[in-house]
Formats: sequence, structure tokens, C-alpha cells
Amino acid sequence: MGLYVCFFVVFLMLYHGPCINGGITSSFVRKEEKSIDMPFHSDVFSHPPGYNAPQQVHITQGDHVGRAVIVSWVTQDEPGSSTVVYWAEKNNQKFKATGRTTTYKYYNYTSGFIHHCNIMNLEFDTKYHYQLGTGQTTRRFWFMTPPPVGPDVPYTFGLMGDLGQTYDSNVTLTHYEMNPVKGQAVLFVGDLSYADYYKFHDNSRWDSWGRFAERSTAYQPWIWTAGNHELDFEPSIGETKPFKPFLHRYRVPYKASGSTEPLWYSIKRASAYIIVLSSYSAFGMYTPQYQWLLEELPKVNRSETPWLIVLMHSPWYNSNSYHYMEGETMRVMFEPWFVEHKVDLVFAGHVHSYERSERVSNIAYNIVNGECSPVKNLSAPVYITIGDGGNIEGLASIMTEPQPKYSAYREASFGHATLEIKNRTHAYYSWHRNSDGYAVRADSVMFTNRHWHPMDDSTSKTE
Ligand SMILES: [Fe+2]
Repeated sequence: MGLYVCFFVVFLMLYHGPCINGGITSSFVRKEEKSIDMPFHSDVFSHPPGYNAPQQVHITQGDHVGRAVIVSWVTQDEPGSSTVVYWAEKNNQKFKATGRTTTYKYYNYTSGFIHHCNIMNLEFDTKYHYQLGTGQTTRRFWFMTPPPVGPDVPYTFGLMGDLGQTYDSNVTLTHYEMNPVKGQAVLFVGDLSYADYYKFHDNSRWDSWGRFAERSTAYQPWIWTAGNHELDFEPSIGETKPFKPFLHRYRVPYKASGSTEPLWYSIKRASAYIIVLSSYSAFGMYTPQYQWLLEELPKVNRSETPWLIVLMHSPWYNSNSYHYMEGETMRVMFEPWFVEHKVDLVFAGHVHSYERSERVSNIAYNIVNGECSPVKNLSAPVYITIGDGGNIEGLASIMTEPQPKYSAYREASFGHATLEIKNRTHAYYSWHRNSDGYAVRADSVMFTNRHWHPMDDSTSKTE
């Protein structure tokens, strides 16, 4: 009898052997179909009716704390008005703010008139209506300002990346909108329109993307990160200024955080401190981005904003074959700082798949000591790759094998995520795949704050 028990124990040990890898590679297999862009005549791209009607409306936070909103839009036929009329729903007193208009050319394309208007001194936690355009083509929208910055302010972020404008992109955005968990602002991790997929980077696809996303971007701020598809760097047609279309169309409040470039900056929103980095700008020692981040991280006051979140495009911890190790150079530069400052969460895109890491770091290596594997580190962030918006390049379904220990969950499906910050200690995170019903959480974790409650919130079975 004792021998049987012994065999049984050995069997159990062997059976659970693969768990030393820790994580889960989801057995869910999405039917692989090509992702194709929706045609220009699709209803999601429809132009608002009327001559010179404002289109491609989008908003983002306009200052460091959430009392300002940058409203951006395009008028196609003539400059028109750059004025935003806005009022708080509770008192109807109308205010006006006037912005500026810009245009740009990209090879054989000339943009419409791109308006940016920063409306400031808003009240916190207030519903505002705003109106753009004139006469018959006036359009109205609304947004909510966030609550005042504070350590226990609940707030829910949506997370999307690499969205594009395919039928799958439309499903992703619809799932985000229909999710019973209501995101109040979107953290977007880069790669918006994929206009560069087309000949001469057909910038009409930047316009159509603006019209497609408007149903969300006009009503809640999207916090922008630049990806490689924002570069639009094409010397063969004389386009040598990186990020030209993106920077003309999408404005961010970078000066409010002491940044010198719109590609890296920070904001506070409710109980979160969001740092946006640029994977495609210089970050080596002494560069402006390096210097800014070096000075930025010590400024974060966790008693005011407990949740320290970083957005970037190219992931540091990615076990998909697609873009494998592309984020390595930035990881080498900045990872020790992330651990020192106890960053809670790092969100990236770029890989068209979903992956969540455990809390690991790989900062011990010093050329000669051989310590070059990621190790569990409860001061380290969780790294989440959410580049699964559904763009024209399709799914990245080939993973490195075996699944590394640091990888807690990975799956090649399109989707989006939500992060529900509850208070200074807990935030509930969920990833939703497009193939499921709106309320289904395919991967979810209760994260605990690294400053206030640094307990082990790993989900793998070992270590
Ligand atoms: Fe990318």
C-alpha cells in the first residue's frame, strides 16, 4: 500500500512537472482569418453631414492634473471656426475657448484643417458639454472631468493598442464600449491608423481612423503613446521628418510635466500617475528622454498618486516570436529605475497578441556575473502586452517555447483590457477577448499596489 502511495506521489510530482514554467498558454484558438481594413464607404467612416462639418473629434487630458482638456478636430473644406463652446451640465453657463489650426503635406496628400483647443480651469468630476462648428454643421459632444487627484480615488481605465481600422478593430472598439465595466479614459499604447500600410502612406487612412475612433475619442480622453506606425518615415518619397502626421493630429500636454517633446510625458489622473515613453526616440544616457525620466520618477508622490503606470509601445517582456527582444535596449536602460521606484504596471503594444507577466526583474547582470535570467521581484512591475487591437497585420500567433517562467498568461487573440483602481491598495484588471461575450473576463487579476500593499499577487503556481 505504502508503495502505491509513493508511486502516486511521484506521479503527481511528474504530472505537475510542466508547471515549473509557471504560466498559462491559453488553449483558446481563434480562427485565423485575414484582418482587412474596412472600405472607405463603411458607415464607421461616414462624414458628418454638411459643408465643412467638424470631424475626427478627439480629446485628451490637457494639463498635469485633469482640469484641462485638449479638443481636436478636422474641418475638410476651409479653416472654419477654431472655437469650442462648452458648459457644465449642472449650470449651463457657456464659455468659449479658441484654439489653433494647422495643416501639413505628406508627399501627394494635403491635410484638412486640424484644430487643437485646450480648454482649461475646468471643475473636477463634472460633466461638460461642448460644441464645435458653426451654423447648420454645429456638432455637440460631452465628457466627464476626472475626480481630484487623490490616493483613494477609484477610477477605471480602458486599455487598447495597435488598433488599426479593420473589421476586427471595429469589434475591439465595440467590445470596449459594450463592456459592463465602463472605462472612463483610455490608455492607448500606440499604433493608431496603420496608414503607412498603404502606398505613399495614404494619409486619408489617418482621416478615416479619426472618424472611426470618434465615437469613443470625442467622449473620453485617450492618452496617446507613439508606436512605430506613427513614424511615417519614408525618405524614398522625401518624408524624412518622423511622426509628422501623428504630431500634427494628436496633441498631448507634455510641457506640463517638464518634457521637451510630445513623445514622452506624464499626467496624474485620479489615483494614477501615468508616464508615457517613446520606444522610437533616443533614450540612451544623456538624451532628452533619459534625462526627463531620470528626473521624473523621483517626483512621483505615492501618497498622492499610489498607482504608478508606464505606457510604451515596444514591450520589454514578450515571449511571442513576433518582435521578440525588440524592447531589450530600453529595458537595459530603464528597468533598474522601474524596480527602484516600484512601478506597478507597464503596458505595451506592438505584438499583436496578449500577454501578462509575473513580477520579475532582470537587472543583476553586469557582463561578468552570468546572472542574466529574469527573477521574481516583488518590487518589479507586471508587464502587459495589449497590442491585440486587431489591425491589418493580423494576429501574432507563434510563441517562443517553452513558455518562460516570467510569462503568466499568453494568448493570440484580439481584445482590450480594463483596469479598475479601487483604492490605494487594490486594482482589478481584466482582459477581454473579442471572441467572447461583452462581459466575459478571459484573464483577470487583483493587483496590489507596490508602495502601499506590496504583497505577492502572482498567479502562477510555482515560486
Ligand atoms: Fe507596433
